[in-house]
Amino acid sequence: MTVAYIEDIPRHEGQDVTVRGWLYNRTPKGKLQFLIVRDGTGMIQAVAFRPQVGEEVWARCERLTQESSIIVTGMVRKEPRAPGGYEMSLTNLDIVQIADEYPIALKEHGTGFLMEHRHLWLRSPRQRAILKVRAEIIRACRNYLDDHGFTLVDAPILTPAACEGTSTLFETDYFGDKAYLSQSGQLYNEATIAALGRTYCFGPTFRAEKSKTRRHLMEFWMIEPEAAFYTQEDNMRLQEEFVSYIVQTVLKNRAEELKTLERDTTVLQRVVPPFPRITYDEALEILRKNGKELAWGDDFGGDEETILAEQFDKPVFVTHYPVTCKAFYMQPDPNRPEVVLCGDLLAPEGYGEIIGGSQRIHDLALLEQRIAENKLPKEAFEWYLDLRRYGSVPHSGFGMGIERMVAWICKLPHIRETIPFPRMLDKMYP
Ligand code: 4AD
Ligand code: MG
Repeated sequence: MTVAYIEDIPRHEGQDVTVRGWLYNRTPKGKLQFLIVRDGTGMIQAVAFRPQVGEEVWARCERLTQESSIIVTGMVRKEPRAPGGYEMSLTNLDIVQIADEYPIALKEHGTGFLMEHRHLWLRSPRQRAILKVRAEIIRACRNYLDDHGFTLVDAPILTPAACEGTSTLFETDYFGDKAYLSQSGQLYNEATIAALGRTYCFGPTFRAEKSKTRRHLMEFWMIEPEAAFYTQEDNMRLQEEFVSYIVQTVLKNRAEELKTLERDTTVLQRVVPPFPRITYDEALEILRKNGKELAWGDDFGGDEETILAEQFDKPVFVTHYPVTCKAFYMQPDPNRPEVVLCGDLLAPEGYGEIIGGSQRIHDLALLEQRIAENKLPKEAFEWYLDLRRYGSVPHSGFGMGIERMVAWICKLPHIRETIPFPRMLDKMYP
């Protein structure tokens, strides 16, 4: 007997195949039972006809509860009215396990309840679609960089120092010393570019974000390219190409999932280079016109980012932030040293910052000064300063949060649905 995955069913028209999966739903109707079976690759309806399957198989069908694990065999038929266009005429059914009463019935549930049952909620069509889009985004990121001269180099998770400010560090004991969960692999990328020219790291990063928002997780995944001899201009060009490639790849390869998510894709189709750019000063002006008075030097929060992004129909770069808003390592603008050569990329539709990037300081004395001004422990950064002692070059890079991309591309109301098991301020179960 041929064992098939549901996604391959069209290739088996007219054949008997076996599908292994879970019962999504069952509808009895006289001498017929309609079983909707899912196997992770799709869903198919298997139809049991009592006179044909016999009493024993019929009785097994009747015992089936939602999410019972089953092995079904039947003949594949074209059926234009069925979702997916095919159906199985059941000839046999084996039960692997009869599921207890499933907590997530096929009706609306509150988010709190669903989050408590995240381990089961992931099986729903909508969550499955999100996971598929997430995987596609990650694959696109890696394919793009692998094909454009960047080498993947893994950065450590346990680190001796902060990259993105000391207020969001998760501290842990390291055999009597302090260690911190990585906030970013960037500083290590800055070492590996001197070995490989262009590198990227991809992995989990951690921020003890003490605020509850729909954009922040405590643990999120970041892809971080870094390139020697790249200016911030080169860096933004790369970002435009990179983000456009990701969006267009998802549109092409995950059309079905986007449909499941009822995503209007017209905004996404417009995501092609070039992206508009505004300076921090211009951003302040836009905010003022929209009733938000900020002082020069104030950082933007979610509300400000939303107003700014609403002015454009593509992602927009906000450049030249005040030195005081940004991390210690950013290169000041030589023409205007109170601002840095940086760019945050804001997504449309209210999704805020998806990328943070900058040119890095390559001058030893300036970097030492900035480390001191930020009251960072110099000993922990000696290795990082070495990079400015031995063949220092101008260089740039950026970090893109995978979950922010998933939230935007899927147009999700909250970041908690973008990652299989979100770590939130008030929750890390399951
Ligand atoms: O702007 P951030 O903090 O930049 C860095 O960490 C740089 N060291 C990256 C680099 O240049 N290599 O973070 C980069 C991105 C943000 O734009 C956002 O997409 C995401 O990481 N991000 C978060 N995503 C979810 N939850 C959080 N708490 C996040 N903090 C940042
Ligand atoms: Mg940022």
